Amino acid sequence: MNNTVILSEEKGKDDQKTAFKEEVFNGLSKSPKSLPSKFFYDDQGSQIFSDITNLDEYYPTKCEYNIFANHKESIISKIPAYGKINIIELGAGDGQKTKVLLEEILKSKRDVEYIPIDISSFAIKSLLDDLKQNFPELKTFGVVGEYSPGLKWVREHKKGRNLVLFLGSNLGNFPQDQATLFLKEIRNALNLDDFLFIGLDLKKDISVLLKAYNDSKGLTSQFNLNLLERMNRELSSNFNLESFKHFGTYDPIKGTMESYLISTKNQKVLFKEDDRTFFFRAHEPIHTEYSWKYTPQESVELSEKCQFGVVDHFTDSKRYFLNALWKAL
Ligand code: AVJ
Repeated sequence: MNNTVILSEEKGKDDQKTAFKEEVFNGLSKSPKSLPSKFFYDDQGSQIFSDITNLDEYYPTKCEYNIFANHKESIISKIPAYGKINIIELGAGDGQKTKVLLEEILKSKRDVEYIPIDISSFAIKSLLDDLKQNFPELKTFGVVGEYSPGLKWVREHKKGRNLVLFLGSNLGNFPQDQATLFLKEIRNALNLDDFLFIGLDLKKDISVLLKAYNDSKGLTSQFNLNLLERMNRELSSNFNLESFKHFGTYDPIKGTMESYLISTKNQKVLFKEDDRTFFFRAHEPIHTEYSWKYTPQESVELSEKCQFGVVDHFTDSKRYFLNALWKAL
């Protein structure tokens, strides 16, 4: 691939397994027990998440798409019209939402280059191939690596103003201190007056949140339980999926949706390859996910804490989701 740079590649299968196992053993040894939500997304989990985004009850993906479709002109108009612009996307995904913005900015005949950054070379290649089909005139360049080294590489090798996209409420999975650290790291990898366009899920009527994370088809439950299945598949454990229950709840003090797996009885689980056993008491929870919700005011405060300033806020008609355009100060 001559339009791609590889800074660091995804770990090999064996290293990935070792890292997964270490975090699992560590999380299950804690009290309360917890597992990091980043492990949801193996092939099965990614497929279930994609099915979740099609549910009526799960609003975030659709809201963000609508914000893009309804406000694309005004979003693009906030970016100064002169000079080259690098649109850098963190976490490539399938680019569905991004295409709306790309189409709009191409119409303006601006000098634009689209630069996705992702740790998976497969994800980068698929996205670039797809864009070549859909936007043959768009300049693209892939960066395979971690986000902040990727951004620093772009700053050093590509001329122009940077517009970083971090969409889909992915920031919400970080505990608050980690979210701040992450955003500060992004800021450090940018130049003054560069932009960050970030998706944040808004605080709203709690019943809407509870339905979105406890859907009637049970997909969110499957998504959560897939973590146990994944350990069974990859780490030779023997979790009985019948004796753990998905529980999604809202903490109004933190402002987070949180997912748990609750043990329905006293039980032990064996990781055969390593001969390690973990005990679960009846009603004992495993914490599996944070999904942080914000107010527009909290977007302002967060931006200031991380040396950004809010340029504009874009929301959907129900005010369920927020896309914030921040500028590096
Ligand atoms: C992919 C992190 C945005 O937090 O809403 C969906 C994941 N968890 N249903 C979210 C998720 C439960 C999702 N993100």
